This record gives sequence, C-alpha cells and structure tokens, in this order.
Amino acid sequence: QELQLNLEQIEKGGYDHFMLKEIFEQPSVIKDTYRGRLLADQGIVRLGGLENYIEKFTNADRIIIVACGTSWHAGLVAEYIFEDLVRIPVEVEYASEFRYRNPIISEKDVVIAISQSGETADTLAAIKLAKSKGAFVYGVCNVVGSTISRETHTGTYTHAGPEIGVASTKAFTTQITVLTMMALRLAKAKGTISQSDFMLYLRALELIPNQVEEALKTDDKITEISAVFKDARNFLYLGRGYNFPVALEGALKLKEISYIHAEGYPAAEMKHGPIALIDEQMPVVVIAIKSDHYDKVVSNIQEIKARKGKIIAVVSKGDTVVKEMADYVMEVPHTTEALTPLLTTIPLQLLSYHIAVMLGRNVDQPRNLAKSVTVE
Ligand code: AGP
Repeated sequence: QELQLNLEQIEKGGYDHFMLKEIFEQPSVIKDTYRGRLLADQGIVRLGGLENYIEKFTNADRIIIVACGTSWHAGLVAEYIFEDLVRIPVEVEYASEFRYRNPIISEKDVVIAISQSGETADTLAAIKLAKSKGAFVYGVCNVVGSTISRETHTGTYTHAGPEIGVASTKAFTTQITVLTMMALRLAKAKGTISQSDFMLYLRALELIPNQVEEALKTDDKITEISAVFKDARNFLYLGRGYNFPVALEGALKLKEISYIHAEGYPAAEMKHGPIALIDEQMPVVVIAIKSDHYDKVVSNIQEIKARKGKIIAVVSKGDTVVKEMADYVMEVPHTTEALTPLLTTIPLQLLSYHIAVMLGRNVDQPRNLAKSVTVE
C-alpha cells in the first residue's frame, strides 16, 4: 500500500493530482507536438500524415469534424481556423448525433476525427459510417495504435503523453496545436495565406509554450478567485469568435470535476434569453481578450453588471478597461487571435481545478465519468 502510494506520487511528479500535473505539462507537450513539424526558421510546416493527402483537402467540398466532449470543442476551434485560413467549409458534428441522423456524405467530403483516447465508441462509429460512404477520414489522436488511429486513412498524433486525469486538458491544447498546423499547411498549399502572414503564424505558434508558461504563473491569483466562488450553484461562461468554443470548454471542465452546473454561450447570445438568469448569485466568466470582438464583449460585460452579475474576466495582459469593470481578472499574454484559445483555456482549467479541490471532489476520477467512453 505504501509502495503503491509512493509510486503514484512519483507518477504525479510531485503534483497533488494528475490533472494539475497535466495542466502544467502543457508548455512542454505543445512543444513536443510541433517539434519536427513546425520549422519556423525555414518557413515550413510539415505533417507526415498529411503530406501525401494535401489534394484530398484542397479539392474537398467541405470538411466534417466528428468528435465528443472536449475533442468536440477543439473541433469548433478548428472550424474557425480552417474557414478563416483555408477557406473550405467546415461542419463540426457531435459524433453521437452524426452517426444516427443518416447524414449526407460523399467522396468529396473529408472527415477529421478528433479523439484523445482513440477509443470513443461514437467517434469510431462515425468514422466507419463516413468511410462506408466513400469519405476520406483523417485522425487526430493521442494514443498511438489506438482503434481510431488504425481505422482512419491517415492522421497526426498529438504528443501530449498519457493523459490520466479524466478531465481533458493537455489533450485539448495539443489537438488545437495539430489542427492549427494542418490549417497553416493547407492554407499554404491552397494559396489562401500570404507568405508574410504564414510566417507570422509560425513565429506566434513557436512563442505559445512560453506564453502558456506565463499564463500558468497566475495560478495563485486563480486560487484566490476560486475560494470566492467555490460555493456558487451555477456559472455562465461567455466568449466570442475563436473563444466561444473556449467558453464551452471552460464550462465543461467546471461541470465534470466540481459538479457545479455551468453553461457556455456566445457572449452576444445573452440578450436572447440567458441574461434573465443573471443575478448576484450567478458568477459570469467572460473571455475578454484584445480581439476584433473586444468592444462588443465590453458592452456585454456592462449589460451583466447592470443586473448585478459578478464578472470574472480573462483579459489580455495589461488590459485596463475590463480590469476596471470586472470583479476579478485573469491575465493571459497577447497573441494573434486564432491562437488565443491555447492561452485563454489555461486560467479556466486552473479555476475548475482549484474549485473542485476546495469542494473535496475526486478531481482525477470524478463521479460517473470514465476516461474513455468505449460504450454507447
Ligand atoms: C473531457 O474533459 C472529457 N474527459 C470528455 O468529454 C472527453 O473529451 C470525451 O469523452 C472525448 O474523449 P476522446 O477525446 O478520448 O474521444
């Protein structure tokens, strides 16, 4: 028993939980994921599994992304990046819905299946359905040799290493890293990105590990914020554009490890009903980084404050405007908008983790959950 405990402590690398260790591993595993694939000095992005299939994508009518849970959120981020950079229509589907709704799929479709475990039953079934209708299927998995990685025609592995915590963290950021490199490689092949923008993205992506490191340094501040809100019964998470999927992901993290109800929404959607929920008992986490949507998010914050809502804002380092309005802020470094999900998700992971720990939850193995849902 003693030996077992010590072994586990070693495996946790001195962290209290695997989830915390995996949150803090993100700078290094993002680097491991782009190492040998992102060669910024040479102006090259090269993904082994993609090189022989570039035309499959550039000639595709559309890209269908199938996934579940956090991987589905990574797919939503990919939708924004692919449509913005590669100009190919993208649909993101819950695998569990896609497989049963008799979807229209043709040989001109490319499917990207995203799965950390590579064993999720619904995602596997969606892949088989797509293949049976002639679609080309690309996998983004974390487990080498997993069923999904063997079922897809080709793919790219994230190099996140084993993710033990049931709540996905480093898998999410390494999935986005792979999907961003795919979009950059395809945009270059398709000629939908200028050489200068391409180089800007490569340099910005290279900087991400250090910037994640910097975002992780707000851990103490986030612990304080967690103590203030740990007894809330409900949370709202709001984001726009690239950070709308991050709002969904932040809400899922909180739900699955603290058991507090949380919902993610596009910030502008508040006025279509959800703002009726706002009162001083309902903390609202708003992703309000410097972006094209900044002014609109600021007005969303004003609407919430007018209704006595408590605001926890994720802001760009040095922000003064939102800092004045919000009750609490969590700062992240500035990067190009398409890469902000890699940074804005960090404080939301930490917020969920600390609240769950303060509530005495089983953070690594939350109730009712399995690490891989291999059954329907
Ligand atoms: C996310 O924190 C959960 N662990 C869960 O939603 C997970 O993302 C989902 O089950 C998909 O798993 P996969 O990536 O292994 O396919």
